[in-house]
Amino acid sequence: MKILVTGGLGFIGSHTVVELQNEGFDVVIIDNCSNASEDVLDGITAITGEKPEFEKFDLRDKTKVLDFFSRHKDIDGVIHFAASKAVGESVEKPLLYYENNLSTLVYLLQQLSQKGKSHFIFSSSCTVYGQADEMPITENAPVKPAESPYGNTKQIGEEIIRDSCKVTPELQAISLRYFNPMGAHPSAKIGELPLGVPQNLVPFITQTGIGLREQLSVFGDDYPTEDGTCIRDYIHVVDLAKAHVVALKRLLESKNEKNYEVFNVGTGTGSSVLEVIKSFERVSGVKLNYKIVDRRPGDVISAYADTSRANRTLGWKAESTLDDAMRSAWLWEKKIRA
Ligand code: WQD
Repeated sequence: MKILVTGGLGFIGSHTVVELQNEGFDVVIIDNCSNASEDVLDGITAITGEKPEFEKFDLRDKTKVLDFFSRHKDIDGVIHFAASKAVGESVEKPLLYYENNLSTLVYLLQQLSQKGKSHFIFSSSCTVYGQADEMPITENAPVKPAESPYGNTKQIGEEIIRDSCKVTPELQAISLRYFNPMGAHPSAKIGELPLGVPQNLVPFITQTGIGLREQLSVFGDDYPTEDGTCIRDYIHVVDLAKAHVVALKRLLESKNEKNYEVFNVGTGTGSSVLEVIKSFERVSGVKLNYKIVDRRPGDVISAYADTSRANRTLGWKAESTLDDAMRSAWLWEKKIRA
């Protein structure tokens, strides 16, 4: 079976391509390389021994999307990662985010809706919950007004899929709401490659640990949490990648009860910023240089998943601990800086 992975050279996309190939799927990647290097193909191939098909173009080019599907009539499923995902940038450039994250989704769904039975996995985010009222967060938690255009594109994206599935019973879709992906493949042949100064906590920690950054700024320790720092659900990227394969198989084997389903994908455990720093120090033996600064606007206090639906319905559960994930992130950082 052949699976299209858009954004397949990206952080989560590349790890998902590896897990798809491990399960015997043929993979074709579309990526415009705006936020990923074509070299990632070599990393994937080095792990699985199989080079995925790859086409470099921008999904905003509708003509190219139509041409792709006219040449690839044997696509059995699509996992759609390709999107812009920097929260801060989305506030400064909302139209870039609405165009890139939504027009591409519409073009893909238009193609799939004409294909007859089709299977679609959407990369969504816990960002859709905003600051949820109760922890852990279930899929029934209300979707709150987005804190950023990026988060809004995930909310609107889910609605576009939901409305498409309503009128196209043949379109079978699942949205996976990620919590905080981190880490790297244990082989250290693929991992997270943030462009420029990392916005996310874990790559900033490992870059500080290796000496690329002077000091980590901890954005606030005056939150109403045990140690005053924000809490998140940090999930190993390989666990997250495996969730995509399980979700896709659910659709391909017609085990889904409805033609549109949503799942939280996290570990179910919340960790504070200071606990993540302590995890780094434990696994690396490096004392991390950090300071407490003001809060970052838009941060929620706490977000960690109730994963019982994914555990029960998908038969999927995250296996790695925070230390396992941090160990893989540190190994990767040392590898790419060697
Ligand atoms: C985690 C915690 C920060 C950096 C974002 C997106 C989300 C998803 C994951 C795409 C927060 C603190 C961070 C730093 C810090 N992305 N922090 N110093 O904001 O939870 O989620 O990335 O899907 O959609 O919103 O992740 O890693 O930026 O922050 O203290 O230098 O670490 O305040 O409490 P976040 P993050």
